[in-house]
Amino acid sequence: MRLRRIPRAEQVILDHPEWVIPEPKSMQGKWQEVFGNNNKIQLEVGCGKGQFLMKLAKANPDCNYIGIEKFDSVILRALEKLLDEPLSNLRLIWADAEDIDLFFQKGEIDKVYLNFSDPWPKNRQAKRRLSHPNFLARYARFLQSGQHIALKTDNFGLFSYSMLSFTASPDFRVLELDLQRQNNPDNVTTEFEDKFIAMGNSIFYLDVDRLELST
Ligand SMILES: C[S@@+](CC[C@H](N)C(=O)[O-])C[C@H]1O[C@@H](n2cnc3c(N)ncnc32)[C@H](O)[C@@H]1O
Repeated sequence: MRLRRIPRAEQVILDHPEWVIPEPKSMQGKWQEVFGNNNKIQLEVGCGKGQFLMKLAKANPDCNYIGIEKFDSVILRALEKLLDEPLSNLRLIWADAEDIDLFFQKGEIDKVYLNFSDPWPKNRQAKRRLSHPNFLARYARFLQSGQHIALKTDNFGLFSYSMLSFTASPDFRVLELDLQRQNNPDNVTTEFEDKFIAMGNSIFYLDVDRLELST
């Protein structure tokens, strides 16, 4: 994704700790306190400008949502959406997901969404893919048995890689695969997805759940 740097982004983010939660490692096990209820919490890794989570948070007020995004100029757009339309069941984390297993306690997150993650097509970049075995091991540390990861992409290379990665993992089981997710009436689209559907691309979808075999 080409990024336009926005110099004021960092300061705006720091000015709004009520929406972009600072020091997420210190919040491990405390996310229900942040939301002030015991509702389930779902998480989008690489949430971009936040369209998907805004839609879900509005449609499901009894569920809480967290978005993680590593670029300040991108998460700024999600924050601006929240400032325009405050949603008490949505929070953001400005961080690299490399440390994601340190942000959440086991069982604290009910479901993870990986939407249109960067494909990183070169072999030497594979470790950056959010479905690389190293990332799956991190998700497995805080997801517990029966909790899900849903992945969507229009990139067949990333899709097949992810399918193999989940299948090879002792921690996850592939439950559902859909090669035309755009036709599913329950599909909630993301910012990138809207563009890809407009271009005529198919949307590939995977639903997996956590198997409690190893940890
Ligand atoms: C192609 S965009 C998709 C954005 C959004 N999910 C959507 O579908 O519209 C991928 C996003 O993931 C973010 N991202 C990639 N790797 C990340 C990481 N390790 N930690 C946090 N965010 C990451 C990128 O900065 C980018 O904003």
